[in-house]
Amino acid sequence: MTPIVTVPVQEWNQRCPTAVQEEAVRALEEGCVLLFPQLRFVIEDDERYLLSPATAAKSKNISWDVATGKLGGSSLGEAATSTLRTMMTRFAKFSRDLMVNLFPPYAPSLTQARTSFRPVEILGRATSWRKDDTRLHVDSFPSSPVQDKRILRVFCNINPDGRGRYWRLGESFPSVASRFLPSLSPPVWGTSQLLRLCRITKSRRSPYDHFMLQLHDCMKTDLHYQSGANQSTYDFPPGSTWMAFTDQVSHAAMSGQHLFEQTFYVPVASMMDPSRSPLRVLERLTGQTLT
Ligand SMILES: [Fe+2]
Repeated sequence: MTPIVTVPVQEWNQRCPTAVQEEAVRALEEGCVLLFPQLRFVIEDDERYLLSPATAAKSKNISWDVATGKLGGSSLGEAATSTLRTMMTRFAKFSRDLMVNLFPPYAPSLTQARTSFRPVEILGRATSWRKDDTRLHVDSFPSSPVQDKRILRVFCNINPDGRGRYWRLGESFPSVASRFLPSLSPPVWGTSQLLRLCRITKSRRSPYDHFMLQLHDCMKTDLHYQSGANQSTYDFPPGSTWMAFTDQVSHAAMSGQHLFEQTFYVPVASMMDPSRSPLRVLERLTGQTLT
């Protein structure tokens, strides 16, 4: 089962001693969740009214692309949108500061992707099985292939009412991959070009992306696995931050409201130990090069 390793960082831009950096990167790449119990994101007084499901209109979250300045998922007026942008930009900057201070080897090739604000309660939300993140899964994006990159996500519980964010955590990636490998079929020739041509994917879907999507779907559709797999639970308290390679850590978000999340991409080649990446694990299991 997935261990949770506590990291003694309390400020987003805190300089980290080498010993802390080395322990953090080792645990992260081994597939642990890193927990920062006292690393909180402060919501300013004039931002508090944004902690409402109404902020997200009909979506489950609001997304912010720091590179393009594009805000998605909200239908607020001009003034509120400006406040929302300020809050999300601040979280994007803080989470990047954390990454740079904690993981210097990743910093030069780190890509900062979407920032997400999730003011909607998870429990009881109606969704399709594929989008149902209360089922154990590893992350894989249907329209955004990652190819040879890892998905690293930073989460921060900003619930103002003292409520935790309740997760299930499953088996190690090699265990999950070995279990489902017999159910996975190889990509059909020409499919990746067709998906790209039809703009279903934003870039070429590699064989690795193909297998990861299948793995994601197989995990979510297997209800026997969902209930029977070795797993543990953890209630991430308000005012805490945590991070994981979510393409590797089997996880399910069961309940909670008001969260920030920041996605980063890390090239496999930048890892201290690339052999632990899902890409290399799947390549070993299939005996094929998958990118
Ligand atoms: Fe996920």
